[in-house]
Amino acid sequence: MISRRDFLAAVGAAGGAGAMFATMGALGLAPTAMGTPDYQPPRPSDFTLGGRAAAKVIVLGGGIAGLASAYELGKAGYDCTVLEARDVAGGRNFTVRGGTRQTDLDGRTQVGRFSDGEYMNAGPARLAQWMVTLDYCRELGIPLEVFTNVNASALIYHEGMTAPVRYRTAKADVYGYVSELLAKATDQGALDSALTSDDKQRLLAFLEDWGDIGTQHKYTGSLRRGFSVDPGAAEQRGTVLGPPPSLSDVLASGVGRHFSFELEYEQAMLMFQPVGGMDRIPAALVRAIGPARVRTGCAVTGITNGDNGVSVTYTRNGQPQRIDADYCIAAMPPHVTAKIPHNLGAGVQAALSTYHGDPVGKMGLEYRSRWWETDHRIYGGITETDLDLDHVWYPSHGYHGRRGTLIGYYNTGDHAVAYGQLTPAQREARAVAQGVRIHGDKYRTELASSFSVAWHRTPYIEGGWAIPTDAPSYRLLNEPQGRVYFAGDWLTFLVTWQAGAFASARRVVTELHERVLKS
Ligand code: ALA
Repeated sequence: MISRRDFLAAVGAAGGAGAMFATMGALGLAPTAMGTPDYQPPRPSDFTLGGRAAAKVIVLGGGIAGLASAYELGKAGYDCTVLEARDVAGGRNFTVRGGTRQTDLDGRTQVGRFSDGEYMNAGPARLAQWMVTLDYCRELGIPLEVFTNVNASALIYHEGMTAPVRYRTAKADVYGYVSELLAKATDQGALDSALTSDDKQRLLAFLEDWGDIGTQHKYTGSLRRGFSVDPGAAEQRGTVLGPPPSLSDVLASGVGRHFSFELEYEQAMLMFQPVGGMDRIPAALVRAIGPARVRTGCAVTGITNGDNGVSVTYTRNGQPQRIDADYCIAAMPPHVTAKIPHNLGAGVQAALSTYHGDPVGKMGLEYRSRWWETDHRIYGGITETDLDLDHVWYPSHGYHGRRGTLIGYYNTGDHAVAYGQLTPAQREARAVAQGVRIHGDKYRTELASSFSVAWHRTPYIEGGWAIPTDAPSYRLLNEPQGRVYFAGDWLTFLVTWQAGAFASARRVVTELHERVLKS
């Protein structure tokens, strides 16, 4: 998982702190220039006084950045054509259903065998409330539902555990012991140089509550751990889970390292998802753009920037084609664009070459029953592991339905590489064997079918995301090169998010439109 902090650190590390702040300043993100300017979509009326006309624009890549560019420019009557190499628009916004077919770079073809109504969001799957993606859902009439990113009933499973531990239990223990330690230090005067006596009283009151450690300042377990027999009627008080493991065992288990995730600006609850699948977004964009303007099965083979226009060659059904336009928006992954002949210069080529597609894998597992709800009382959310599955997701929709589809793994780095090297059947076998360790036999016996995506082995995408690492390259590609503009989440501080693709599209559309109005 790459956080905004990691990205800033990466840019800072490559270009020095000065470069980092220069980059942030250029994006209006420097401390002195906080806030995002309002976005004004191009309007047909913008042309009425200036005597200019909407231009012709070729958009390369029908992912979210490309589609959003064409959609926004289309509002002012620009003549946009989107060239998409895959047979469906959306890019990494890819929802697998029954009948979905995909062949990877190793020649392995999978066909989705999910039942009616079952699907997996193989790419983006969660939307934060502050993200512009929600504004597009509103504008395009896409209904939303809550996506459960954190669930107290979900599990943590690490190698060496005899059984998984529920989030609520792990949190009770970690918060309890940490509170006890801090209270002890406070009581013993170890923090006297930092705290007044009022501060100490207030801190202790907080710790007693936060860690449930009582006025004795000792963690001995808590109702927050959960119950082995739930509370009920009359005399049934319930049986609290306990006793808690020792402080040393809790620290050794490492469960605490999962708790900061939900504090991330991008990942904090509530989060949302489109009802029916994330691909409702590209589908709605294509409808709004006009399906005839989005040409699938068109792989770009060359980009030529000229004084008066841009010429793009591509293949459709194996036949060479060419299209000319006034401007071009290259919204493909940078590491894919880097392999396409162009005349934009060695500097642009070097800048594109600083990007690499990161390995990312996801597997959907459809089950004949929703045993995680009936047997484990887990309704949505994520189980965290240190197995090579990384994360297991439970569906945030269709509760109490007959069937359901888990994300059996969502992994990155070496784990994604390891799974990506396997055949789909081998991936399934490996993921299920790991899942059985956490959930028991139904993980195997109730399985109906699976579908896996190794994004780094997916044609025309070749990576789950591409993180900027070089500030000068990032800046260069954020500026037009002749009549060619670049767009994508890889040119934003929202890299790995659809919101980044939308933000980048808006920026490019605004600049291109201003240029056309002035030309
Ligand atoms: N944005 C990606 C996610 O939420 C990395 O998983």
